[in-house]
Parts: sequence; C-alpha cells; structure tokens
Amino acid sequence: MRDLLNKLGKPLEVKLDSAVLAQSQAPTTQGSPKAGRDAKHDSAHKHVAGAAQYIDDRFPHAGQLYGCVGKSPHAHARVISMNLDKVRAAPGVLCVITADDIPGHLDIGPVFPGDMLLVKDKVEFVGQPLFAVAAESHAAARRAVKLAEVEYEVLPATLTIEDALQQQLFVRPPHQMRLGEPETALANAPNRLRGDIEVGGQEHFYLEGQISLAIPEEDGGMHIFASSQHPSEVQKLVAEVLDVPFNRITVDVRRMGGGFGGKETQAAPWACLAAVLARKSGRPVKFRLSRSDDMEMTGKRHHFHNHFDVGFDDEGRILGADITVNGLCGYSPDLSDAIVDRAMFHSDNAYFLANANITGNRCKTHTVSNTAFRGFGGPQGMMAAEAMIEAIARRVGKDPVEIRLLNYYREDHERYDFKQSGYDVTPYHQKVEQNLIPLMTRKLMADADYHARKAAIRAFNASSPVLKKGLALTPVKFGISFTVQHLNQAGALIHIYTDGSIHLNHGGTEMGQGLYTKVAQIVAQEFQVDVDNIVVSAARTDKVPNTSPTAASSGTDLNGKAAQNAAQTIKGRLIEFACEQYQVTPEQVYFADNNVHVGEKAFPFAEFIQQAYMGRVSLSATGFYKTPKIHYDRDTASGRPFFYFANGVAASEVVVDTLTGEYKVLRADILHDVGKSLNPAIDIGQIEGGFIQGMGWLTTEEVCWDANGRLLSNSPANYKIPTLGDLPEVLNVELLPNEPNREETIYHSKAVGEPPFMLAISVWCALKDAISSLTDYRIDPPLHTPSTPEKVLAAVEATLSAAKGE
Ligand code: MTE
Ligand code: MOS
Repeated sequence: MRDLLNKLGKPLEVKLDSAVLAQSQAPTTQGSPKAGRDAKHDSAHKHVAGAAQYIDDRFPHAGQLYGCVGKSPHAHARVISMNLDKVRAAPGVLCVITADDIPGHLDIGPVFPGDMLLVKDKVEFVGQPLFAVAAESHAAARRAVKLAEVEYEVLPATLTIEDALQQQLFVRPPHQMRLGEPETALANAPNRLRGDIEVGGQEHFYLEGQISLAIPEEDGGMHIFASSQHPSEVQKLVAEVLDVPFNRITVDVRRMGGGFGGKETQAAPWACLAAVLARKSGRPVKFRLSRSDDMEMTGKRHHFHNHFDVGFDDEGRILGADITVNGLCGYSPDLSDAIVDRAMFHSDNAYFLANANITGNRCKTHTVSNTAFRGFGGPQGMMAAEAMIEAIARRVGKDPVEIRLLNYYREDHERYDFKQSGYDVTPYHQKVEQNLIPLMTRKLMADADYHARKAAIRAFNASSPVLKKGLALTPVKFGISFTVQHLNQAGALIHIYTDGSIHLNHGGTEMGQGLYTKVAQIVAQEFQVDVDNIVVSAARTDKVPNTSPTAASSGTDLNGKAAQNAAQTIKGRLIEFACEQYQVTPEQVYFADNNVHVGEKAFPFAEFIQQAYMGRVSLSATGFYKTPKIHYDRDTASGRPFFYFANGVAASEVVVDTLTGEYKVLRADILHDVGKSLNPAIDIGQIEGGFIQGMGWLTTEEVCWDANGRLLSNSPANYKIPTLGDLPEVLNVELLPNEPNREETIYHSKAVGEPPFMLAISVWCALKDAISSLTDYRIDPPLHTPSTPEKVLAAVEATLSAAKGE
C-alpha cells in the first residue's frame, strides 16, 4: 500500500517499448507517451471530496416522486388475492402499479425469459416485487407498501443445490465439455481421489445501491439516469416495458459507485419500474433501494458445490479428471447459463487436463436470481481445480506448489516436444498460447523468498502448539472475451471543438475501475495532447448506440480500440488537410507534445484545429471495434472463446489460531500480467482491490439464509466485508515486466478488472496449509468457503480426527 502511495506521489517512469507501441499506432504519432504511464483516475479528487455526482446527488425535479415496491414474504407461493386499497389511500401516495398496469412486456429476462418485472400469480423468492408505488417522499413510499393485504397459498420451496439436483430442477439444461479419454484415464490411473468443495456466494456491496431516475419526455419518451453497467439493455427493456420504439428512450450513465457485476442485468428492473410509474403519473420518478432491500431483492455471486474425481501418477501428475460444477442460480436464468459456462471454462485453472470431462449444472432454487459478480463464475470453477491440486499434494506428500508446477500448461519454449499442435489445449480445445504462468511462478517464488519462508514456517509450526502458519502460492489464468461472441464489439464518438478541446464518448461505463481515464489516455496518445484536454462525459445511448455491457473485464480492450479508431479517422482528415494546405506529403505531418508538425512548421494543436475548422474539415467521428479471432461452437464445446488469457500468481501467508479458528493474513505477494500496462497506478489499484474483494469472498463474507429462504445477512451489521484492518500488513504488487500481449490489443495491454480477484485463492490455500501442519501435512483439511473462523475451527477438528482414524 505504502508502495503504491509512493508511486502515486511522483510519476512512475514506465518505459514504453517503442517498437511495440509503433506497431499499433499510426507512424504519425511521436512525442511523449500519454498511455502507458500513471495518470490519476479522472474523478479521484471528486470521489475524495464528495464532489463526484451520483444519481442520488442530483437536485430533485419539480414534482418528483419516489418509488418503492411491495414484496413477497414467501419463497414459493401462489398469490390468491391482492388488496391494495390501503396502499392507494396512504398519505403521499400518487400512483400504484401491478403487473396489469405494464403497457408492454412484463418479462424482462435479459437473455432467456423468466424475470417478471412484477409478479402476476406466483412468487419464487422472498423479496420478489409484487407491486410498486410512487409517493411524494421515499419514506411515504416505504410506509405505504407495508399496508398491502395479500393472501398466499404457500408452496414447498427448493432452497439448496442438493435439493435442486435431486429434483432435477434447472434454470437451463446441463452442459458438458470433453477432451481426450477421461473414463479410460481415470480407470487406469495408479492413484485416484474423489472430493468436493462448497464455494459460497457473495453480496456485491457496491457503495452506491441500485438506483434509477426516469423523467417523462414528449411523445411517450423517457430520459433515464441509471446506475447500470449496461445502458443499452436498460434502454431496450424500458422501451419494451413501455411499448415504445427504442429511439424514444435515452439512458445516461455518468458513473456508478461500484458495480462489480451486480449492475449488469439487475439495474434494469428499477429503471423499468421508475419508467412505468413516471409514465402513469406523468412525473419524474426516482427509484432507490434501501440497503436491506438491495441485499434481499438483487442477485449475488452464485454459491457452487463442485465435485471432482481425479486420477494421477505417483509424482502427482494429473492423468484424468471428471469435474462437476453445480451453480445455485436462484429462480430464473438471468445470466446463469454463461456464468456456469465460465465456471466450466475455468475449472482447469492453469492446469493441463489431457483427459477431462467437465459438467456444469444450473440449479434452480426459490431464491433471488444470482447474477454476474467479478469473475463471472470463473472463481467458483477455479476452486474445483485448486481443491483437486491440494488433495493430490497431501496424498503424494509434496508441497502443493510442486504439484502446480508439474501440471501447468506448457510454456512456449517447451512446446516443440508436444504432439503436433505445438500447444497444450484446454478442455474446450483452445490452445494455451503465451503461457506465462510457469515463468511467473518461478519469479514470484524467487522474489517472495518462497522456499526460505516455507522452511521458516515449518520450524515455527514445529515449536508453536496453538498458532500455526501457512504459506501458499496459486496461479490465475483467466480468459478474456465475452463468451457470447456478438458482445465483443464497441463504439466510440469523438468531437473536437474549435478551441482544440476534445469530447469523448464510448460504450463503456465507469464504475470506479478507471476505464474513462484509460480510454482518454488512448485518445490523448493518438492526438498527442494532454489527457486533461479530453472530457469523457457519460455513457449515453443517444451518443453511442447498441453497446455491450461493461463487463468481462473487456471495457478498455473494446472501447479503447473503438476510441482509437475514431481518433485515427479524424487524424486522417487532419493530415489530408495539412497536405493540401501546406503542400507536404503525409509523411511530413506528425503529432507530438500538443503540436501538429507540418514539414518545417509546428502549430499548437488548438491552432491547427482552428485552421482545419476554417478549412471545413469534419472534426467529429465515430469509431468501431470487434474482437478478432474468437469463435466457439457450444454444441461441440470447442473453439477459441477467448482472445487471450490474463495471468497472475499470488503467494499468501497466514497465521491461524487452532483453538479458536481465528486467523490473519500476514503477507501477500502478487505478480500480475497486464501485458503492456496502459496505466500502472490504476492497474495496481485494480489488483489490490480485486485481491482484497476475493479475500472477503473466501473468508469473512457469509451469505446466510434461514430454513424458509429468508436472507439473514441483510445489512452491514450481519455481513462482513473486508475493511482496512483486514489488509495484510505486507502487500506487494508487481506488474510482470517485459511481456506485452502478443495479440493485437490496444497498445498490447491486457484486461485487469476481474482476474486479480482470483489471486485470493492463495489465502484459502494458505489456511489449508496452516491447518494441514497439524498432521505433518498428511491430511488435506476439508475447508469449505467462506472460510470463516467457525469453518476453520471445524476443519481443524475434522483434520485432527482424520489423522487419528488413519
Ligand atoms: N473496480 C471498481 N472500482 N468497481 C467495480 O465495480 N467491477 C469489476 C472490475 N473492477 C469494478 C471494478 C468488474 S466485475 C468488471 S467486469 C470490470 O471492472 C469492468 O470494467 P473493465 O472492463 O473496464 O475492466
Ligand atoms: Mo464483471 S462480473 O463481468 O461485471
């Protein structure tokens, strides 16, 4: 942390590899790099000062109303009757709507049907919205919804993965991936282990909860301010719900106070409800969920229960694996098909499974519909691979890191001795190219003094009866691209005004991750102007249409390229103009350090723009990008779903009190691969934030339900996210140097948003290492997640009794 602050204090000199940069930009750009160096988040000072405007900070409009929903107290029930007379008569209430008042679509399922904006006759989770009101104040709306008289016929509820599996209750059909001959490999393997791992869900806990503001406009139109990662989908759904063409609806997203996947699909219902109430009342309506409503009524990370059956040789080399990942999806499909797919895509993590069978089940339960959350199922899938590695290590009596090194996908320089293809392939038949993980593991082991510390920890544990330390190193290989192919596209819009200032829009939304800063740096790099000459206003559907969600960590990859494309279009026009005006060749025109050089002359950028305007040159352009190379055939579960992989390794050290189960993370060392970083300060921030959020997921954050499907962890008082006190005392983060992305991404950078989240698996493995020391590392502790102190203590006891039973 201190390291980062130091770096922010003085600009980090990150040397740009000029050869690499030259490849991906017009030869007409020279001068100092704008991209590839630290630049502060464009809103950082406003975030700190409270000056960044969020939707709830907007001044209320004249006549503005406030929305709230009435919700189901049952997990599964038929609605027999609903009497809303008292709600309508409540003080301050101007408008009440039920499913019958929706002018257009009632089902707002983002990919598959199943998400009813308001329930018509059957509720499928506790907290499901039945009706909505708009009142003169937020408090009046909240008081009014409690007055509803609803009769239910309560039905039996399915609440767990096991129950759903037993009843074969799925929101989408199961899916399978297959490589080699897993059955034969398993049958012939000298050693075989079966195991399972429970992986808990996670509450997003964005600081700004779900919120939308709908302002009615002429001709049935609606202007929506939303806190959404997917403005185009909000536009589409609001239009469909209101039954108007898409062009009547404008959605504006300036920023979110965090999204983390929770605002990819699940920001839409509140915008839709606000819009219907605004249409009906003719007034602006703001819909803001209270924190406890937000926690109860919106989906979370999927809880998973994964099983493995693995065959391996005496060294610990995996010969065959059969892995099943079961995701708890809740009552509707939402994004669960793609999320369970991503869990399957990552159940190999960084390991070559030559003979693998991978099954993914999408379990339906009568709980809120779970949704995207940083990693999008990938983290839960990876836990299957790491649980497998840990189990093998204890069985063959080796340090788990040895088993990891033994099973990694091959590095490039070793590729020549591998079959015909030249590369190892994943269970979905994608070649693993530019595999940096073995190299990164060796580097981190050296930099973090792995072997010496491991020896010191063994010595410490031998003489410490209660406190036990653990150290573990785990890798992350995360596939970058939306696995739904058509989403891998983006648009941008650039205007240059006559004073030389630049206005930039693109399809990406800002949720704190620094996307706007990075894309502005790219445009600054192309025009060779200072970053603060560029304003990124907001993601707006009337500026850049038909956009993809800002998700899958692809925001910069997609929108950065689209913005570069728009910038290059305008540059082309400027160069053409310069050639005509000054009788030079294109080679004699270049942009450098806020100047446009034309032959022997140099003009300040603003002055040259003024000339171009007088010369009637168009100073506005759109840009577009689509990711090349990717394809995937889901029927055969093979192809290249990912443009490339982002990689990371982390080594975490913990100390566990084996009498109470309490623990502390003492130190974490991270080496992460962002290719050629566009902004090291922001990338390191994403890595630190992702790691800590991942640590929360695996340790303290426990989503709890009662036996009737009611959420118990519904406030910060009973749900514990990591705070400053949970930070490891030592947290070293390094960006892997000298390894630009070999693919043609924007300046050969790599996505960074989600991958570091999974580095926290090293904390879980370190806890297991500490517990395992009680049995001289022979027993693999059955530690499920979140590994709260209670679960750690249970694992300590189970490990000790397993050792006795040997
Ligand atoms: N960082 C912050 N500060 N806030 C967020 O909400 N969301 C994460 C990640 N980093 C998030 C974040 C998630 S889930 C994704 S997919 C990416 O940012 C999305 O942004 P990107 O594609 O621009 O990296
Ligand atoms: Mo991130 S889970 O892809 O929004």
